[in-house]
Amino acid sequence: MTQSDEVSHASASAASKSAFPIPANVFAETVTHVHHYTDRLFKFRITRPASFRFRSGEFVMIGLPNAERPVFRAYSVASPSWDEEVEFYSIKVPDGPLTEHLQKIKVGDTVLMRKKPTGTLVNDALIPGKRVYMFSTGTGLAPFASLIRDPETYEKFDQVILTHTCREIDELKYGEELVELCNNDPLVGEFAKGRLIHYTSVTRQEFPRMGRITDLMESGKLFKDLGVPPIDPEVDRAMICGSMAMLNDTKDMLEKFGLVEGSNARPASYVVERAFVD
Ligand code: A2P
Repeated sequence: MTQSDEVSHASASAASKSAFPIPANVFAETVTHVHHYTDRLFKFRITRPASFRFRSGEFVMIGLPNAERPVFRAYSVASPSWDEEVEFYSIKVPDGPLTEHLQKIKVGDTVLMRKKPTGTLVNDALIPGKRVYMFSTGTGLAPFASLIRDPETYEKFDQVILTHTCREIDELKYGEELVELCNNDPLVGEFAKGRLIHYTSVTRQEFPRMGRITDLMESGKLFKDLGVPPIDPEVDRAMICGSMAMLNDTKDMLEKFGLVEGSNARPASYVVERAFVD
């Protein structure tokens, strides 16, 4: 029997409610909060096991205790590492193997979370700089929800520019709430005030700022609106999270500006992570 096949009958109350055995490499946690933003997007929070440690920006595999071999999908942790609970931001995919069930969760239900977080969208994978851009589309906002609430981000960079582009206006709501929360937080607010800039755009509805982030960069509108010079590899760093197509197009653009992709093993001037869906 491998370690992942081993079954631990964890004492956690969430685990004891499950009809299926909980594998040893998985935490069984209780849902504490669910909020639906649109018919496509929701956030939820679960209890945090004392031993669960992660770096802001990392992701973890989550699933539901609804089968002998449950479906797991990668979810960025959206809460900061100092939070008592763990927050996730999710899309609802019709007939998605996980999200068709996950979107129905209620407070008190059990969510499974593999014990080991991972990922490249972390401050450690970037070399120091003056300004960090966090480019997100859709649920690609999630890892940045964690990073903008981490004091370390402000220790490393003078300015944090979070861009969020969605198809429709309602999909910007979670990000707007987060930035407000961040600015008013007794701990992070001190760092974030005046240094965290939230730049939103919408592509499929009338909105004061319209267009894909790649187009806004290409035309120079992004930099003009922000009142900053175009991206300069000497001082600017970037993190990208969105669909595969968005990652590829944004990477190409950043490389034209001279940024170089980094990793945990080899920090450089930008990093990417796919926003996983289904
Ligand atoms: P658009 O409406 O023009 O497709 P999705 O929900 O499909 O991931 O899209 C989220 C946002 O990302 C949308 O505003 C979408 O714009 C935008 N987007 C999609 N593909 C790209 C891309 N290749 N580069 C930049 N933005 C993109």
